[in-house]
Amino acid sequence: MMFPPAAPFPAARPRRLRARRWIRDLVRESVLSPSDLLWPLFLVDGEDIRQPVASMPGVERLSIDLALPAIAEAHELGIPAVALFPYVRDSLRTDDACEAWNPDNLVCRATRRIKAEVPGIGVMQDVALDPYNAMGHDGIVDADGNVLNDESVVALVRQALCQAEAGTDILGPSDMMDGRIGAIRAALEENGYTNTLILSYSAKYASALYGPFREATGSGARLAGDKRTYQMDEANTDEALRETAMDIAEGADMVMVKPGVFYLDVCRRVKETFGVPTFAYQVSGEYAMIRSAAIMGQIDGEAAMLESLRAFRRAGCDGVLSYFAVEAARILRRE
Ligand code: PBG
Repeated sequence: MMFPPAAPFPAARPRRLRARRWIRDLVRESVLSPSDLLWPLFLVDGEDIRQPVASMPGVERLSIDLALPAIAEAHELGIPAVALFPYVRDSLRTDDACEAWNPDNLVCRATRRIKAEVPGIGVMQDVALDPYNAMGHDGIVDADGNVLNDESVVALVRQALCQAEAGTDILGPSDMMDGRIGAIRAALEENGYTNTLILSYSAKYASALYGPFREATGSGARLAGDKRTYQMDEANTDEALRETAMDIAEGADMVMVKPGVFYLDVCRRVKETFGVPTFAYQVSGEYAMIRSAAIMGQIDGEAAMLESLRAFRRAGCDGVLSYFAVEAARILRRE
């Protein structure tokens, strides 16, 4: 957009538009509401279980029975969808990651319960093998430690079909294998899942900010090496556009940039280039930084949380996945 040159002072006094709360509200350029938030949550097997995640103060793994009322509250607050992440026991972490396509695995059981008991909320699941892989990787790993692309895509398609069968509304491939969106979309079409949405983690960077998540899902301690052969180099932005273009061409309905606040320039470019629904993931390390600084009394946690979420809207994102979703929605409903 081109603007005419600004009038000089004192014809223009930009502070006029900031002088009172009501005028600030009136001229606010972007709006943050609960309907812009997706809530990621961690599940654990069993009943009546609540396990704090040490590196994410305020976040707990919940058993399905405890997750359901929390999800019902999220729905009442106007949060459109939840994203489910499992913490599975060690015996289910194998070289072939076959628990990923067990129709009775934790996330599929949870999805069926949510669909039955909180039918109005959307359910998203991650398509990636890291919760189930013995090496903590998102794909299949060979004897030399290579993460194999095409073999992984076969496994991811099996996982995706199993998730769709359980009633998952949104599949979120977070694995960064090449060609997986096309393969998953074709399999969904062939099997009659014509309305299953794909929110692709299109531009996912190899970030230092995923550590707390890997503690929450239990994959971090196992992780052999790093994920730099499949997740993107933090220095790149043209590459983000190529990845996103491929995912859209292969059948993604929505795209994502991840992590969030360090990558707002990428959010802006993706939204302006493609104009498709664009999301950002405010990841575990971002949550931890804000939360921990607030606990230390270094920043105002509530204000910083809302400021960080508004930043995504200002950058052009349609919505944000955030561990703050429920807390933020409560405040936004009050305002
Ligand atoms: C797994 C996955 C990760 C996240 C979402 N899905 C971690 C990773 O790629 O290692 C990160 C989310 C977060 O840090 O909050 N594919």
